[in-house]
Amino acid sequence: MKNLIVYFTWSNNTKKLVLDINKEFNFDILRIDRKKPYSENYNTCAYVEAKEEVSKHIFPEISDFSVDFNEYNNILLFFPIWWYTFPMVIGTFIKKIKGFKGNVYYFANSYTNDYQYMINVRRDLLKIDSSINFKEGLFNKNLKDHIDFIRREVK
Ligand SMILES: Cc1cc2nc3c(=O)[nH]c(=O)nc-3n(C[C@H](O)[C@H](O)[C@H](O)COP(=O)(O)O)c2cc1C
Repeated sequence: MKNLIVYFTWSNNTKKLVLDINKEFNFDILRIDRKKPYSENYNTCAYVEAKEEVSKHIFPEISDFSVDFNEYNNILLFFPIWWYTFPMVIGTFIKKIKGFKGNVYYFANSYTNDYQYMINVRRDLLKIDSSINFKEGLFNKNLKDHIDFIRREVK
């Protein structure tokens, strides 16, 4: 089985988590970057850029990858919750993997531990591409839980 970790991070919580997870697995790993990076200023990023994208359904351009996603059985997609769902760059990524036949496991983290966010995430992922096999990963769990989950579930 070949697995690929794909992640987006802004303040590096997700980055730290995936790099720690990957010390255990050594999967290939890709980071999603907005072509025009989000502001480093929280208020600009959250209340101007991210808010506009989510409210107007804008899928911002992301940097290109030179990867054949179809070489992988599973994509493990990690992101923070932004405005009650995934950041819109995750939506852009889902559009880029159109036709992917494997599983896409989604893992989210956020400030507030509200499981409704995962329900929103699933709903919004399926709105973008209902032909992809999305599988629920973990929400706001620690490193050990992730390692155990991946060993147990990701086949
Ligand atoms: C633009 C933006 C929007 C956010 N929206 C939410 C939210 O709706 N609910 C929440 O609990 N946390 C929200 N957060 C907090 C992040 O989900 C949380 O801090 C996360 O751990 C950040 O991950 P990162 O360091 O990988 O970027 C938001 C953060 C940002 C920057």
